[in-house]
Amino acid sequence: MKNFLVINNKIKSFNKNITVSGDKSLSIRAVLLASQAIGKSRISNLLESEDVLNSLKVIKKLGSNFKKKNNLYEIDGYGLDSFYLRKKLRIYTGNSGTLARLILGLLANVNQEVKIYGDKSLSKRDFSRISNPLKVFGVNIKLSNNSLPATIIGTKYLRPINYFENLGSAQCKSAVMLAALKTNGVTKIKAKKSRNHTELLFQNLNIPIKLKKTKKFDFIEISGPSNFSSFNYNIPGDISSSAFFIVLTLLSKNSSILIKNININPSRTGIIKILNKMNANITFKNKKVYKGEAVADIFVKSKSNIKSIKCPEYMNSSAIDEFLIIFLVAAKAKGVSTFKNLGELNKKESPRLDIGINFLKKIGIKVLRKKNDIQIYGNPKLKLKDKYIMKDFLKDHRVFMMSSVAALTLGGKWKIYDQESIKTSFPNFIKTIKKLGAKIN
Ligand code: S3P
Repeated sequence: MKNFLVINNKIKSFNKNITVSGDKSLSIRAVLLASQAIGKSRISNLLESEDVLNSLKVIKKLGSNFKKKNNLYEIDGYGLDSFYLRKKLRIYTGNSGTLARLILGLLANVNQEVKIYGDKSLSKRDFSRISNPLKVFGVNIKLSNNSLPATIIGTKYLRPINYFENLGSAQCKSAVMLAALKTNGVTKIKAKKSRNHTELLFQNLNIPIKLKKTKKFDFIEISGPSNFSSFNYNIPGDISSSAFFIVLTLLSKNSSILIKNININPSRTGIIKILNKMNANITFKNKKVYKGEAVADIFVKSKSNIKSIKCPEYMNSSAIDEFLIIFLVAAKAKGVSTFKNLGELNKKESPRLDIGINFLKKIGIKVLRKKNDIQIYGNPKLKLKDKYIMKDFLKDHRVFMMSSVAALTLGGKWKIYDQESIKTSFPNFIKTIKKLGAKIN
């Protein structure tokens, strides 16, 4: 794969059905939970991206075997106490915050030293948000400048904790839930709203979990330790990967797309709600529920009269990975869009709030910022003719894909570096835009 993508032409109208690959959050969770189950789990439509392949490598290093048979991954698990370790094991988690944070939760009961390290981007991200609750469980964990590499020595004598998750981070909530699974007693969590895949999987696997929801918080109680049996899971498509095609269609002329079999868990559909508030008309077809997860086909048509939005803060968590692409829609909207309290965006694979603002300015859009609140002055007539180079974004896959959508819908001559970044979450991204007729080199 060449290191950069050249886009010199807007995409022509298209009317197509597509699929996108399996959901990343569910794929990583399915792999990690299969390693803890008793028996052989079978997972289909697993996302084969670097984050998930690294998850498979990690569980293999810890003693759980897997095999691929046709499109099915078979993973052998031997229970909650089964991780087998060589002395001083080193575990590589690549670019994946989800893998690194969740595996720390699973290592809570492993009484040997393990070093966790990641790539350049992951080694800049905050891990004190995970080490703090794990220390309360009784785990010995040391970080480097609050980040990776981390050295963890778990304990067989974990104590249940009361934990307040106040960032709206599903990774933090899930890491604590996984440690709770291994802890004798009841762990109580009060969590700001965030994606609830781990809760739904626990319920589905009959792990003792109590859930109570209020408007602002979720209350979770887990009684551990609780071994569980192996399972079958068919991973639905990823709404975060779909987001790029939703916006590509919305901002193109006379086009439509049907994206099939996508996870539309309400804790993930912020992008749809936000875009519909901006006058898009995105609909769900063939809705069903699979193991507690809502799944549907997403239908989108182009729209010329996009309106600005005052995005309510409560929507931030359900669109947390989609703001870059939402900013692009705000750039083409009539009026000034406002977004508030987006500090968590700067804690992602790259500082996405800073990068998003710089990107908008680069394409001639006025943006005002006050701390983590921003105002985007939309321009429905926005058309680009100049040359644009995108590089130095810490190989953030979502920056790469958003820039490609900008190039294909706004015009201009683009050179977008770090093409290999798509391997993190969506290796078929380029193939899929080509299928829609995009001319790219
Ligand atoms: C994820 C949670 C989110 C999200 C990430 C995946 C998950 O991160 O940004 O891409 O699978 O739990 P935070 O929990 O840190 O907000």
